[in-house]
Amino acid sequence: MPENHAPNLLAAQRLAHDPRIAHAKELLTQVVRDHQQELNQVRPPRPELTAGYAEKVAKFEGLRGGSLYFPYLSAGLGNGPYVELADGSVKLDLITGIGVHGMGHSNPELVSTGIDAVLCDTVMQGNLQQNEPSVELTELLVKLATESGSDLQHCVLTTSGAMANENALKIAFQKNAPAQRVFAFENCFCGRSIALSNMTDRPNYRVGLPVTTTVDYLPFYDYRDPAGSLKRTMAIFEKQVARYPKQHAILWMELIAGEGGYYAGSREFFQTLAGRARELGIAVICDEVQTFSRTHRPYAFQYFELDSLVDIVTIGKITQVCATLFTSDYKPKPGLVSQTFTGNSASILAGLKIVRGLVERGHFTRDPSSSKTMQLHDLFVGGIRAIEAKYPGSLQGPYGLGGMVGFTPFDGSAAVAKELTMKLYEAGLMGFIAGDAPSRVRFLMPLLVTQPHHIQEACGILENVVAQMVAGRRG
Ligand SMILES: Cc1ncc(COP(=O)(O)O)c(C=O)c1O
Repeated sequence: MPENHAPNLLAAQRLAHDPRIAHAKELLTQVVRDHQQELNQVRPPRPELTAGYAEKVAKFEGLRGGSLYFPYLSAGLGNGPYVELADGSVKLDLITGIGVHGMGHSNPELVSTGIDAVLCDTVMQGNLQQNEPSVELTELLVKLATESGSDLQHCVLTTSGAMANENALKIAFQKNAPAQRVFAFENCFCGRSIALSNMTDRPNYRVGLPVTTTVDYLPFYDYRDPAGSLKRTMAIFEKQVARYPKQHAILWMELIAGEGGYYAGSREFFQTLAGRARELGIAVICDEVQTFSRTHRPYAFQYFELDSLVDIVTIGKITQVCATLFTSDYKPKPGLVSQTFTGNSASILAGLKIVRGLVERGHFTRDPSSSKTMQLHDLFVGGIRAIEAKYPGSLQGPYGLGGMVGFTPFDGSAAVAKELTMKLYEAGLMGFIAGDAPSRVRFLMPLLVTQPHHIQEACGILENVVAQMVAGRRG
């Protein structure tokens, strides 16, 4: 045991500062670096592993009682946006578990925070057991949320986007009781709990579920007709308010529709709608489970300049641990919000590392053109447009904002979007589908590790697959 020169430190601090830990971390992260180096381009599966791999996938599908979208089983190592699968293939992963791997795969910095996490006593943090990183993360999320004027002074952590959204619903319903109706956008996706499945505008996501929430749907912003779309949405909003006076508790908004198909709204549209909801005492909730950190501002509500209009905001995915932020007016009464688990210690530390990384490495800027996220977007959409120019009608759009990039492939049917996504997967590029009528293909780049050459590689794969599909359609 090394000599200790700081007797006033707590035992845990002496552990954290023990030079043997630093040495072990250095060694471990170097070992990871050594082995991940070779994962630096797309590779096909190894023929000798293919049959066993297919068996494992089939077994897993049987056990979970449903099929996987992709036959994806990670081997447990990656490098930036590349990931090695158990069949020996290497994929260029630009969907990242739907926007989760902000720092890419097997990031040595996260290996290091993972070691800190296993040394911090508790696997999971929660209601009766919080460690200091929970304080640091909530403080950072509140600091970022309030930096341009919002009053979101409070933040509770939780384990999933659905639970963050459930907490948001409960907080808003309690404050605005007895009002029980919710305004939400057509085509919205809110999560998989019973209440959130009720709100999600996909009938097949709630087959057989009881009705727990009464939702009045509003048409989302239509970029082809900004003024007309605002007028139509406001007219429906006012009609429902008049039809059900004082019965609306919540205006639920996802500012860039994610699962809904990468539609972005506009400042004027959201400001008018949220402003009117505020006048009526209806809680303005922004679901940022997918949009957090995807523009040049930390929160999308800041991008759309809704700082003075938001009451509650939820985040998830890239932050690893999810959260509900709210103003002092919406502080819940004791007993309403509590959980055994608010997050895994590794997720909380990784969330802190990722959000700090986004702050410190040039992703959040006042000027959009200097944000790394927005620069990656421009590069990616430039590549998509070039393919569309070569093969007209193949990739319409592009849609989305910042770190959310999507397009409508060919006729926009669900079958074609799936065909393209699966062909990309086989060729080594991972994207995913979004939306319905039209169906789209979308990407959520790992923002902190994506380099221009990764986007060029992705566009090269995309172009080859499009060329194949065009040829197939001609032939
Ligand atoms: C906008 C939005 N809200 C909520 C959720 C649900 O999050 P989770 O899957 O972590 O429960 C998602 C997930 O895709 C989402 O995109």
